[in-house]
Amino acid sequence: MERGTSVALTGPSGSGKSTLLHLIGAIERLDAGSIVVGGREIGGLSGKELAAYRRTVGFVFQRFHLLPALTALDNVIAPVLPFRTAFDKRQRALELLDLVGLKDRAGALPSQLSGGQQQRVAIARALVNDPPLLLADEPTGNLDSRTGESIVDLLLSLRDDRGATVVVATHDPGLAERCDGSLRLRDGVLV
Ligand SMILES: Nc1ncnc2c1ncn2[C@@H]1O[C@H](COP(=O)(O)OP(=O)(O)OP(=O)(O)O)[C@@H](O)[C@H]1O
Ligand SMILES: [Mg+2]
Repeated sequence: MERGTSVALTGPSGSGKSTLLHLIGAIERLDAGSIVVGGREIGGLSGKELAAYRRTVGFVFQRFHLLPALTALDNVIAPVLPFRTAFDKRQRALELLDLVGLKDRAGALPSQLSGGQQQRVAIARALVNDPPLLLADEPTGNLDSRTGESIVDLLLSLRDDRGATVVVATHDPGLAERCDGSLRLRDGVLV
């Protein structure tokens, strides 16, 4: 993939889309092959380098994985909570919630938000480090088409406004069509 482009990962259920995203994001470790991001081989990084690498990747999980006991605001802050940051964490989280249209719900718990709103909180959280690489797993799954469309607009605006590279796993042909390219998997193999 070229930097600053968007690619859709498509393929039937079980074909390996989530697995590939987890490998690119260094959430799971490779046992074969190699993954090169920004000229670096991910499999060859030390533990410390991996931790630094993960902070350059934003990940939107297939199931939003929000922390149920934390407010929307605190969920967005959570990934940077243990770290010293050059920015004010709370301020940044509020800006991101504003970006995804949820500034007025900053104090809400996930259980008080709709699916689309939870998905937008998950996207705001993925952006807290201003990642050059954004990986999104079925970001429009389970959303009505209108909400899904606004999520796609948001993801593609990150490519356009911030030059982010965006990889999206999706079953949604409309979403795949809006990306710069698409890659199809079948049984764990690129077809
Ligand atoms: N942690 C794991 N350990 C072993 N096998 C796994 C693991 N996670 C997924 N698999 C298997 O790997 C294959 C690919 O799964 P994966 O979740 O990547 O598919 P997917 O393309 O994302 O499917 P879906 O469209 O349903 O989300 C499946 O056969 C699945 O059962
Ligand atoms: Mg999946």
